[in-house]
Amino acid sequence: MRKIFYKFKILILRIIGYEKPLRVALLKYFSLKFSTFRPHYETLIYESSKNAIKLGFKEINIIELGVAGGDGVRSLVKYKKKVEKIFDIKINVIGFDTGVGLPNTTLKEDLPFFWKQGDYTNKNLSNLEKNNDSIKIYEGNISNTLEKFISENNIKIGLIIFDMDLYSSTKTFLEKIPEFSKKKFLLPRTFCYFDDLFVADYCLDDTNGEPLAIYEFNKTNVDLKLGKSFDHIIDFKFPLAKGQIFTLHDFKNENYNKYVGIYSADSLVEKKNEKLRSILDD
Ligand SMILES: C[S@@+](CC[C@H](N)C(=O)[O-])C[C@H]1O[C@@H](n2cnc3c(N)ncnc32)[C@H](O)[C@@H]1O
Repeated sequence: MRKIFYKFKILILRIIGYEKPLRVALLKYFSLKFSTFRPHYETLIYESSKNAIKLGFKEINIIELGVAGGDGVRSLVKYKKKVEKIFDIKINVIGFDTGVGLPNTTLKEDLPFFWKQGDYTNKNLSNLEKNNDSIKIYEGNISNTLEKFISENNIKIGLIIFDMDLYSSTKTFLEKIPEFSKKKFLLPRTFCYFDDLFVADYCLDDTNGEPLAIYEFNKTNVDLKLGKSFDHIIDFKFPLAKGQIFTLHDFKNENYNKYVGIYSADSLVEKKNEKLRSILDD
């Protein structure tokens, strides 16, 4: 009985001390409870599609790194179908996974005390592709499968979802980005969502995991950077994802300076009312 009361006290303290409005906690709870309910994926697809269309592209790939049981790619397909109905764009979903779960690692930056080989094994990974023709899965360790993707790809990448948990796997992918840039796979600015920036009780922090891979990417590259926006009250676009979105800048991209802005002279004077920013548009 004493244990139950104590746990109840801890629960109440956590709820009262939670720093975000409780409606946000509720939305997050639903996204954990219902595996394909991911409003952050939906807004990311929506905004990435808008970015591509403004630049004149009518087809994009969205990539999920780390597929596991397939909940992520299933929700991406669910949302991309909705976006395809309202915009003139074709969206392909591409997943990468070993199929045999997390690879073996002894690197301290991979947190082997928290993640172990074989976690998230999905023996039926290829079924995801069979059951849905808008999904393409590259099965195997990305250190082997990325070359195949590079040789087959000819579509711009509109969005990258990083969810491979490990520092080493994330770094392996990021090390291929300069080649993506050379091969013109990238938009000038590509949204990147990082799922594993925070696991406080297992000490995932800026000395390991995805955060360290991001830091090293930015240190190594001059013409490519992963940028993080400041948190701002004006941002309505990315519920549940704001803190986890980076922009991959490809400064040498032929379209980097192409005008896609909203503050041209006519928007500020003559057609002002048409161009005012709203929560939905920019
Ligand atoms: C957390 S799970 C992904 C969960 C999935 N994104 C979802 O939302 O349902 C992490 C996955 O990353 C995969 N992974 C980790 N390192 C990898 C690597 N080097 N190559 C391919 N897949 C890798 C693992 O096999 C594992 O299934």
